[in-house]
Amino acid sequence: MKKILVTGGAGFIGSHVVRLFVNKYADCHIVNLDVLTYAGNLENLKDVEGKSNYSFVKGDITDEIFIDQLFEKESFDAVIHLAAESHVDRSIMDPLSFVKTNVLGTAVLLNAARKYWKETSNKLFYHVSTDEVYGSLGESGFFTETTPYDPHSPYSASKASSDHLVKAYYDTYGLPVVISNCSNNYGSHQFPEKLLPLMINNIVHSKPLPVYGKGDNVRDWLWVEDHARAIDVILHQGKLGETYNIGGFNEWKNLDIVHLLCRIMDKKLNRAAGESAKLITFVKDRPGHDKRYAIDATKLNKELGWKPSLQFEEGLDRTIDWYLANGEWIDSVTSGAYKEYYSNQYVSR
Ligand code: NAD
Ligand code: DAU
Repeated sequence: MKKILVTGGAGFIGSHVVRLFVNKYADCHIVNLDVLTYAGNLENLKDVEGKSNYSFVKGDITDEIFIDQLFEKESFDAVIHLAAESHVDRSIMDPLSFVKTNVLGTAVLLNAARKYWKETSNKLFYHVSTDEVYGSLGESGFFTETTPYDPHSPYSASKASSDHLVKAYYDTYGLPVVISNCSNNYGSHQFPEKLLPLMINNIVHSKPLPVYGKGDNVRDWLWVEDHARAIDVILHQGKLGETYNIGGFNEWKNLDIVHLLCRIMDKKLNRAAGESAKLITFVKDRPGHDKRYAIDATKLNKELGWKPSLQFEEGLDRTIDWYLANGEWIDSVTSGAYKEYYSNQYVSR
């Protein structure tokens, strides 16, 4: 592949995907298309900024004229589509912006690919999605690629809609597509509104640690660089029209993970054992809160040979160290519009 369009490359996962591809494929040009919402920050990509096989385009995936012009001008061999509104709590407060970006934005990109990719034999539209489309599990069982869709939040419903559009473009127009559905990512550069970076930042500043409900919801955590590697493998070896689940085989109850963070950070911050855990505050539950997510990533492992590379304890340690060393990044990305949202959150609880 000579030219790849990555949408949402200035966000958390997108920046790791861009970094991996720019460094690994010197003969491939990576175009990062991002509108730079509160969640998109070019600081995430400072280390690749000057590389000759990387360029950034500021633009909105919902802007049909702009996207059409981009596809007419550039001959992309592949699209890796990550741009989205990604935070469940925000989708509860402002569902329409999720429908706009995640559903309309995906449709605009698919349609541009349909119109401007005349010869599709060497093209690929890779849609990056989430395990939340499958809904919620009980105490046992796993999501597989054939689990029926059952989304509950405006975020997951918008991602489910976008997945269906991708499949519809494959079935109807023969557009070459592939989809992956991944579990919760963690690592550096994640916007500090999501569970792990929010808790790390609040522990540092001795602020309350807001645990929703009883803290007994379960999530499966995956090191973000392992997700980026999985995307690389699927892009190059995945079968057209297929879905691949990506997960860490690493389930944690929210409360357990917060206690683990507190224990590790007490040591790193030279605090007395148990001091950070005193900050844990149980708050009103998230409406429609999915109980448990757990991904069965066997297909990806058996068919394409991918598996997670990093133990959770090691990944968490690296993640905490990154946030401790990058206080300026946190201050910079949490200035402006985010501050307003953040204080509203607490008023409503
Ligand atoms: P993020 O919120 O950190 O980044 C999203 C990026 O998209 C930002 O850079 C933002 O500026 C950009 N963007 C938003 N609206 C745009 C628009 N209209 N036009 C152009 N760019 C726009 O999200 P993330 O956590 O990195 O997630 C990336 C993708 O992976 C999303 O599609 C998400 O649904 C999916 N996903 C995330 C996780 C996770 O744990 N974070 C897990 C599975 C799947
Ligand atoms: O499963 C994949 C999904 O993981 C992605 O598709 C989403 O983009 C991503 O945001 C993430 O969604 P979650 O809702 O699982 O992530 P979040 O970090 O918001 O919350 C993780 C769990 O922690 C969830 O059960 C809610 C809980 N939580 C979250 C926050 C922010 C709290 O208890 N307190 C909090 O302050």
